[in-house]
Amino acid sequence: MRDYYGDGLWYDAEYLGMRGDIPYYAEVARKASGPVLELACGTGRLSIPMAEAGARVVGLDLSEAMLETAEAKRLQCSGEVQDRLRFVAGDMRDFALKERFSAVVLGLNTLMHLTEDDDLIRMFLCVRKHLAEGGRFFFDVSTPIAADEPRDPDARFDPLEMIHPKTKQRYIVSENNVYDPRTQLNTMIFFYQRMNRNGTPVGKEMRATIRLRVFYPRELELFLSLTGFAIEEDWDDLERTQPFSGHRGRRVLVVRPGPPPRVAWPEPSN
Ligand SMILES: C[S@@+](CC[C@H](N)C(=O)[O-])C[C@H]1O[C@@H](n2cnc3c(N)ncnc32)[C@H](O)[C@@H]1O
Repeated sequence: MRDYYGDGLWYDAEYLGMRGDIPYYAEVARKASGPVLELACGTGRLSIPMAEAGARVVGLDLSEAMLETAEAKRLQCSGEVQDRLRFVAGDMRDFALKERFSAVVLGLNTLMHLTEDDDLIRMFLCVRKHLAEGGRFFFDVSTPIAADEPRDPDARFDPLEMIHPKTKQRYIVSENNVYDPRTQLNTMIFFYQRMNRNGTPVGKEMRATIRLRVFYPRELELFLSLTGFAIEEDWDDLERTQPFSGHRGRRVLVVRPGPPPRVAWPEPSN
């Protein structure tokens, strides 16, 4: 079993084709009147284009391995971009940075990593504290999957080709998932099968799993209102062509501090 966020080069190889959200977040950065904070920045897939768009960007992530790759990529950027970009280790549920930000962003469904109610409350309250006057929080999430359609556990879905970053061997990456409608937790299973030149599988398949929380629309709205956020923009798509309907599998939100939070910071559970 591999650690899904345990190798930044591998992550970049696997997500090589994932570019559709870059223009949206680069535009957020271009329009920001001050510094931008990217939570769960990973290898800088979004932080780097945001810094290239002209913003000063801080990227924060929990995984040392992802940050190591991000920092190596920062050093490949032009001097100006290097100077505008900084990566820090931290947990989006509990961080204290010395500055306030015009925009905080959390891309690529990463909100769904916060599986517990307290995780969400902590993160939203922490973001609120880090927003400058007039600042906004931008994030996107998947909307609920068809919960009552269990998948064949032996099936493999959405196969993609990946070239291993070190060995340059060819892999087919596919996925499956198990959704628990009681907890709203979706366990994603990623499969990695090495292939030879003739397209024949070689060696044993590897796996990685992540658990993601599925948010129903009004549940997410409740978390926002409890933590003192008001929705400013709510879209079906990153191109902002359709207001959020719940039909398109995606939700793109822009929120701003509203009335004071109605919840206190949760006590640590351990
Ligand atoms: C799907 S990746 C997204 C990375 C990057 N934002 C992108 O768009 O490519 C999710 C990232 O969230 C990070 N992460 C998960 N939980 C976190 C937490 N509590 N605090 C900070 N980072 C976290 C992981 O280490 C990983 O880098």
